Amino acid sequence: MAEPGRRAVIQYLGDAKNRPGPDFVIAQVENADDAGKGAGPKEIRELQEAGVDFFTGGNHSLLGKESEKLFAEPNVPAIRPANLKTEIGSGWKVVETKHGNILFASILGQTVSSNPAEIDNPLKTIDKILNVLSNQQLAASIINFHGDFSSEKRVFGYYLDSRASAVIGDHWHVPTADAMVLPGGTAHITDVGMCGTLHSSLGVKTPVIAERWKFGKSSRNEIEQSGPLQFNAVLLDIDETTGLARSIEHIQRIIK
Ligand SMILES: [Fe+2]
Repeated sequence: MAEPGRRAVIQYLGDAKNRPGPDFVIAQVENADDAGKGAGPKEIRELQEAGVDFFTGGNHSLLGKESEKLFAEPNVPAIRPANLKTEIGSGWKVVETKHGNILFASILGQTVSSNPAEIDNPLKTIDKILNVLSNQQLAASIINFHGDFSSEKRVFGYYLDSRASAVIGDHWHVPTADAMVLPGGTAHITDVGMCGTLHSSLGVKTPVIAERWKFGKSSRNEIEQSGPLQFNAVLLDIDETTGLARSIEHIQRIIK
């Protein structure tokens, strides 16, 4: 979430440099620019320098000042939700890595308050993507499900169980305590949580929201810039021969 979120990622990955790190790092960047809306080339570069390899999206992916500039570059390692009806950018990509090809797909839940009037059905969208790739050998497939309803987020995980390496939920900014490998071998969490300021509401200053709530006044969200940071993530271990998950571990660190 905004600059404090990028700072949390940079600090955590920087501290991790001296111990064995993950082979591949993925960040969801729909709130990564300074205003907390979308991401542009500058934020992507900053996070790449910190060690992030690939970037997924959500309902704010195309709302940032520089978002369209980011997706205008076809080789950028970033996607927006695949079921958004738009010609801008791409909703899934296959990336070559030293362990084999990895599919990344971003899917928007059916029920997200700021969704455009019409989005494609999430289940039909992911089926279409997996059908297109049915003849490809994939070492892993990572699906980011960006939704509001816990029921949708759970059902989507089970819907893909045994067909994807991981289905990682987000959008709440608050992590859930249900990271697990489902019976068919797909790692799942309802919500991974955010990176950003700890004492905030989803990264935003709480008094602004309380005022708006109490008096019905319209006001802009203000990003909370100060105080300790929270870093939330999941660590996945995937068997590249089967494309299924061995384990998923939720990580939360408070950075003073
Ligand atoms: Fe979101």
